[in-house]
Amino acid sequence: MSNQPFTFTLPFPGYKPSHFDHHIVRRLSDLQGQFFNQQAYDAMLSREDTVLYEVYEVKRPEIEGELLSGISIVHPGKVGDEFFMTKGHFHTVLDTAELYYCLNGEGFMVMETPEGDTAIEALAPGKVLYVPPRWAHRSVCTSRQEDLITFFIYPGNAGHNYGTIEEKGFRKLVLEQDGAIAFVDNPNFKEDK
Ligand code: F6R
Ligand code: ZN
Repeated sequence: MSNQPFTFTLPFPGYKPSHFDHHIVRRLSDLQGQFFNQQAYDAMLSREDTVLYEVYEVKRPEIEGELLSGISIVHPGKVGDEFFMTKGHFHTVLDTAELYYCLNGEGFMVMETPEGDTAIEALAPGKVLYVPPRWAHRSVCTSRQEDLITFFIYPGNAGHNYGTIEEKGFRKLVLEQDGAIAFVDNPNFKEDK
């Protein structure tokens, strides 16, 4: 991989990077067990394995000192009353942060620490979100029509720990209740024994 400085652009509309190395497409079937309403999930999946979100990654060596960046695009939609969302993860190297810049859409970042602190921050175009070290993070698109598009940057050595969230879930859910957006305690969240 070249160590020359480089540039890329995020052209409007869509913001797909002019240069990227990896295009990840995550579908409903990739989030098995993550949505609260399993019946609604199964019914939806039996009709179609819908694309929930996409990521365009700009690769760099996965080592300390490097920065990884890219675009995350969460599509609008719901499983039952729960908005489409990313899998969410802790960084494998827990003490690594991440910066998000929202380009398009409406949504939230749902976050929590291993100790049980929780935070939910709104995302809207122009907003910068700093996710400190130790906070798991999941993007949720709450717009009815528009993609939630964010540009992200994080340390090259961070890595992704998906297993903890797959096993336990997040403590908070983002649902539509009576036509409004509601943050609800996740009844299926698995506390450590
Ligand atoms: C990288 C990061 C984002 C997410 C992306 C998709 O550390 O937080 O680039 O990877 O928003 O979400 P996940 O990785 O949870 O499927
Ligand atoms: Zn991350």
